[in-house]
Order: sequence, then C-alpha cells, then structure tokens
Amino acid sequence: MSENSRPKGAPRFPEGPAPDPSGGRFERRIRSFTPRRSRVTTAQGDALRRLWPKWGFDIDGQRVLDLAELFGTEAPVVLEIGFGMGEATAQMAAADPGTCILAVDVHTPGQGNLLNLADRAGLTNVRVANGDAVILLREMLAPQSLDGARVYFPDPWPKARHHKRRLIQPDFLTLLAPRLKPGAVLHCATDWEPYAEHMLEVLTAHPDFENTQEDGGYAPRPDFRPLTRFEGQGLRKGHVVHDLLFRRTATPSGVQDTAPTQA
Ligand SMILES: C[S@@+](CC[C@H](N)C(=O)[O-])C[C@H]1O[C@@H](n2cnc3c(N)ncnc32)[C@H](O)[C@@H]1O
Repeated sequence: MSENSRPKGAPRFPEGPAPDPSGGRFERRIRSFTPRRSRVTTAQGDALRRLWPKWGFDIDGQRVLDLAELFGTEAPVVLEIGFGMGEATAQMAAADPGTCILAVDVHTPGQGNLLNLADRAGLTNVRVANGDAVILLREMLAPQSLDGARVYFPDPWPKARHHKRRLIQPDFLTLLAPRLKPGAVLHCATDWEPYAEHMLEVLTAHPDFENTQEDGGYAPRPDFRPLTRFEGQGLRKGHVVHDLLFRRTATPSGVQDTAPTQA
C-alpha cells in the first residue's frame, strides 16, 4: 500500500514497529527525543515488512526480556541507544559477531535501514527495539543483563531550557547501572562540547560509575567505534569529538539490583 492510498489512521506497517509502542501505560515524562514522521524508502519499508517479525520488537513495557532467547545465544549483549540510521551499528556487529547488539531507536526509517543492512551483511547478532530506551531499561531489562551500553551522539538539546531532555543525566545513570554487569562499560560519544562537559561531570559524580581513564578525562577514540552519521556532520562543522568510557562499579548504590516492575 502506498503512503497516499493508506486510509487515515491505518498503521504504516501493520506487522512492523508500532507508532506509540508503550501507549499511555506509563506516566508522561520529559523525553530525550522528538517523534519524527520521516519518509521510509522502498528498501527500508521492505525490510520492515520482511524482517520486523523476526528481528524487531516494540518497547511496550509489558514483559521482562529473556536476552538469550531473543538472540538465540548466551553471548554477551550490548545495548545501543539511539542508533539513528544504523550504519555504525551494522559495522560493529559485523566486526564483532560474538557480541549481540540490542539496538534501540524510535526512528522508523532508521529501523528499516538497520534491518536491511543486517540482512544484506548476513548478521544474526542485531535486534531492533522500537520505542523509548528509558522504558526498555526500566520495565523490560533484568538486573545485570547487559555487558555494555553505547550512546553515540545523543541529541545535544543545546538550548538551556531543553537541557532537561538530555539523555545522560544522574537519574538515567541510576536506572542504567543495575542493568549492567559489574565492570561493564558505558561508552558515550558526542561532538557537542557543552554536552561532553556535562557527561563528564555527571558520570564522574555518579557513585555507580568509574572512569576508565586514569587522568579522569575523556578517552581516546576506541578503534571499534566507526564514524557515525551524526559524527560526520559534526566533524564537517569543525566540532571536536569526545569519547567517554565509564565502568560500572562492583555494587551499584541507591537502586537495588531488583527485577523491573511490571505495569
Ligand atoms: C542525534 S541522533 C544520533 C544517531 C547515531 N547514533 C549517529 O551518531 O549517527 C540521536 C538518536 O537517538 C534517538 N533517541 C533519542 N532518545 C532516545 C530514547 N530515549 N530512546 C530511543 N532512541 C532515542 C533519536 O531518535 C535519534 O535517532
């Protein structure tokens, strides 16, 4: 069905990602993303129709995921929040087939693009989650289920009145920490200098994370992180990119390592 012939209100992809996967089940929050209705190309739409039932799922907040079942292996799982168009995700999955990537975004064309890239490269270690990563973490991921987390070029929300929408905040770190195994690394990267400073400040101050860098500063860019689409845009504008690699400490403070609450 073409976009023009689709009846008003009918889902774009009946068996694909839902437009509002967690519906009104969770309280309204300040969100780190703005829903975008961008054009889905033919290849992306085809990938969503063919592969979503196999490799995609909605973040509906209604169950705790069994990651070994989701990936069909006990291999380590790294969460990537905000994969955008997924090129870097697909490259990292291809370069490290022994690690599974749980890739989360709300952006439908990007979800289709990543599925298409994974299919073309014969990757079996990527799953695509549709919706808000905060609900995924809070409601659907068990304690100590993740071997790492990646947040590459999160929306910088440059205006002061929007700073509260930035993903990397103390509350977010407190939510993430118990889902990471002790020693698991959170890897963030940004080309927005004030956001990099903010990340360094909140990560350094958080009791559940410790800097992998002895000098307490930014990390050299690890070889395994490919150039991302947003990074390329930032570099073309002359921005400087910072990587931050923080390890989860042995015992997270505050929040207990308990199972998520079901709605
Ligand atoms: C600036 S883009 C960066 C994309 C990609 N990492 C790159 O470097 O090219 C940030 C992405 O994060 C996604 N995002 C922001 N907050 C999110 C959240 N809470 N849950 C899922 N995705 C989120 C946005 O939809 C967007 O695609």
